[in-house]
Amino acid sequence: MSSASRKLDKTLVLVGLMGCGKSSVGRRLANALGVGFVDTDDEIVAAAGMSIPEIFERFGEPGFRDGEAKVISRLLSEPPRVMATGGGAFMSPLVRAEVARVGTSVWLRADLETLWGRVAGKPGRPLLDQDNPKQVLADLMAARYPVYGTADIIVDTRADNSHEVVVKDILQKLGAYSGKIGEDS
Ligand code: S3P
Repeated sequence: MSSASRKLDKTLVLVGLMGCGKSSVGRRLANALGVGFVDTDDEIVAAAGMSIPEIFERFGEPGFRDGEAKVISRLLSEPPRVMATGGGAFMSPLVRAEVARVGTSVWLRADLETLWGRVAGKPGRPLLDQDNPKQVLADLMAARYPVYGTADIIVDTRADNSHEVVVKDILQKLGAYSGKIGEDS
């Protein structure tokens, strides 16, 4: 076990809107810390045995949110690691309370153009599978950013900076935040 993983005493929970890079950054961050990585969307798909669009179609968004909260609760009871969450997960007060209790939340903040550049034309996100998806994304920003803003740590990610830069920023802020992680990793 590396010295960094011994120091990771809480799961790092990455939150933020679709396209902000939670999974890509999360994998690299876990690698840098020498800890495991989990993607909650992948776990929901595995638990349900169907894709996210299929879950939305069959059970609606409330059904998806219910399963999402249960899966996140189970994953948070496991040993500390890096966790990428789906964009809506942190909007649940229950999820937020549980993350606050046993984890450290990290918001990857991005502007609309950055997000749109990464999600445009990509299937698999039912909330954007409608007319004017860019406006939907803008509306989600307005509704969600005040809530994401309650995260323990906030880092900015832009189309022109690499995931490595974002990882470095998170590690630096973690050092400042807990006084432990990132100092000698
Ligand atoms: C959602 C984001 C998606 C996925 C689902 C709903 C949301 O995950 O959980 O389509 O509500 O923002 P990503 O943020 O990983 O795309």
